[in-house]
Amino acid sequence: MGPQRLAVCAAFLAFCGFTLAGCSMGKTDAATRGRDVFETCVPCHNSDGSGNREVGAPNIAGMNEWYVEEELDKFRAGVRGLQFNDMEGMRMGPMALSLTSEDDVKAVAHYVETLPVVRHAASLPGDPKAGEALYATCGACHGDQGAGNPDLKAPRIAGVDDWYLVTELRKFRSGVRGANPKDMQGRLMRPMARTLANEDAIRNVVAYIGTLKP
Ligand code: HEC
Ligand code: HEC
Repeated sequence: MGPQRLAVCAAFLAFCGFTLAGCSMGKTDAATRGRDVFETCVPCHNSDGSGNREVGAPNIAGMNEWYVEEELDKFRAGVRGLQFNDMEGMRMGPMALSLTSEDDVKAVAHYVETLPVVRHAASLPGDPKAGEALYATCGACHGDQGAGNPDLKAPRIAGVDDWYLVTELRKFRSGVRGANPKDMQGRLMRPMARTLANEDAIRNVVAYIGTLKP
């Protein structure tokens, strides 16, 4: 075998090696892929998914897979996170865009759901008794115990950090979130947030949500 043919052979073998590596990667189960992809989320959401208030990144540990997928797709499509003044959304948007395939979105969403739920204590003042009456409206979609309802695409809100609930309710009220014409669920949620007349009402309903155990 002349040196030229050897080189061609070597190149061919190297190519085979690559394809085989590619194949075995394809066989890697989604859980492993999800964990790998999740590495890109760790700087803000933490390795246990419990979030980081400093950067406004919510606690996503144990969040329902369908909702994670839904929101990642919204961020990727610019349906969420591009609105004027959405500082936190602007942080999250490019991260979702770094997920280049729908398979990766699904894999990471699945991984997030497998992370054990982490609960943080209440950090904001509020009157849960006053909030209970306000919650009557919310229960229709999010459930009596705030467990969420996938049929309505209403996420679980029980066990979610109070500061994040307050931030999002403010965003829905002002139209920073949920005003995009393509955001069907956000547009459902917006008028609901607007039933909360002021900051006190927001704090109180959030304090009540803090008492729920889905
Ligand atoms: C640079 C910091 C940063 C990184 C990295 C990041 N996120 Fe986020 N993420 C945020 C912030 C900030 C928000 C809150 C956005 C808001 O307030 O609307 C958020 C929101 C979310 C939400 C919406 C939660 C909800 O309750 O609606 C999901 C889901 C999410 N991130 C998943 C991920 C995943 C999965 C990754 C990795 C692929 C990731 N994030 C990487 C900062 C980040
Ligand atoms: C008509 C059904 C409906 C009602 C009633 C409703 N919501 Fe929602 N809510 C939704 C849907 C759907 C979403 C998901 C929006 C999205 O995909 O961005 C949502 C999202 C939210 C979020 C954001 C959660 C997150 O993880 O980012 C909060 C907080 C919330 N709702 C609180 C409330 C409160 C408090 C009330 C009562 C005042 C309420 N909702 C009433 C349907 C509803």
